[in-house]
Amino acid sequence: MTTAPDVEPFDAVDVIAAKRDRARLTDAQIDWVIDAYTRGAVADEQMSALAMAIYLNGMDRAEIARWTDAMIRSGERMDFSALGRPTADKHSTGGVGDKITLPLAPLVAVFGVSVPQLSGRGLGHTGGTLDKLESIPGWRAALTNEEIDAMLGTEGPGAVICAAGSGLAPADKKLYALRDTTGTVSCIPLIASSVMSKKIAEGTGALVLDVKVGSGAFMKEMAQARELAETMVALGQDAGTATRALLTDMSTPLGLTAGNALEVREAVEVLSGGGPADVVDLTVALASEMLDAAGHPVEEPELRAALADGRAMDVWREMIRRQDGDPDAPLPVAPETETVTAPDDGVLTELDALSVGVAAWRLGAGRARKEDPVQAVAGVEMHAKPGDAVRKGQTLLTLHTETPERFGRALEALAGGLTISEPGSQAAQDAIARREAGVVLDRIA
Ligand code: URA
Repeated sequence: MTTAPDVEPFDAVDVIAAKRDRARLTDAQIDWVIDAYTRGAVADEQMSALAMAIYLNGMDRAEIARWTDAMIRSGERMDFSALGRPTADKHSTGGVGDKITLPLAPLVAVFGVSVPQLSGRGLGHTGGTLDKLESIPGWRAALTNEEIDAMLGTEGPGAVICAAGSGLAPADKKLYALRDTTGTVSCIPLIASSVMSKKIAEGTGALVLDVKVGSGAFMKEMAQARELAETMVALGQDAGTATRALLTDMSTPLGLTAGNALEVREAVEVLSGGGPADVVDLTVALASEMLDAAGHPVEEPELRAALADGRAMDVWREMIRRQDGDPDAPLPVAPETETVTAPDDGVLTELDALSVGVAAWRLGAGRARKEDPVQAVAGVEMHAKPGDAVRKGQTLLTLHTETPERFGRALEALAGGLTISEPGSQAAQDAIARREAGVVLDRIA
């Protein structure tokens, strides 16, 4: 961040008006507005208006690249070159039941590539990795830079999942909170610059983006998701970070759980060689991309073996212990549960990701404002997934919470989110085909 000039070189109103009138912002305007906003010389209401103008009128690739660079320059840049090991990170654009980071980071570390996973907390219906890990008794999210280096070096487990420090892209921190309250989150230039400013500032050598597509994702359509992925891959490559992206399905939740402690339990099942096939498959696909991008390709059977034989679990246990967590402590369990049963015999053809995400959030797994607490135990457990045959009266979902007065609103969120179709119908055949096709829809490198 620069110091305040005696006289500001631009007027925020002129910059807002330029974008409102569909002009390109100049490099100097972008550098100034990001810097001035970070130091408080551009007010929140002015930045909100500019974010809305960008939301409506867009930015071209060169503007996005400059905007990203200005956000990187608003704070510190980390540097892992002294580790003596390659580094690779993964970023997901956010989904329901997305606990992949938990088994993925230790799995990649098994093969000698360090994983600096500097994460955030969840907002809205998508869960945050730190919220999930904080359901482990004692576990601590905040680490110093020295502690992070010690985790990643040859004497440590080789992977760290912790809170991103306040020094990393502070302009994005401020802007993201503002976008969240002004209806300007789901905008490709703003998402791409937000994600990539943090990841480039973090200093990872390789980066794999998991760009979610479907009802539970920011990007509902494949064309939008592809554009977001291509924009982020180009930003990463231009900054010298080996970046690639997978486009993955978020029309239905990942795995069988959505909620903090519930998801940790499922991640531990994957690290024990079990777990739902979609979670294992995506973990392996992302690990393979990360290792390849870092210059250490590993075949898929070897990755699956490291989950099955306990090597990834050993790294996980060490990661948790080093952050004061107890990997053997029982995870908290909800005192109150409610079930949703199948109204008919048939094939489950829809289990809508957004409906489940909102239900989990209303049960207490997520927060409406960033200072709100979350319940470790709250969430939704799924007993069937699209493509499964179900019987009338069978339990499809178990809702978990500490506060049973939340069940009503959670059940409202689920209304219309589950569909059961006749066996042999087109809908049933499509659901089975989608499940067999797997969660990875496309790849951009
Ligand atoms: N995740 C981010 O970090 N930023 C966005 O803008 C959206 C998702």
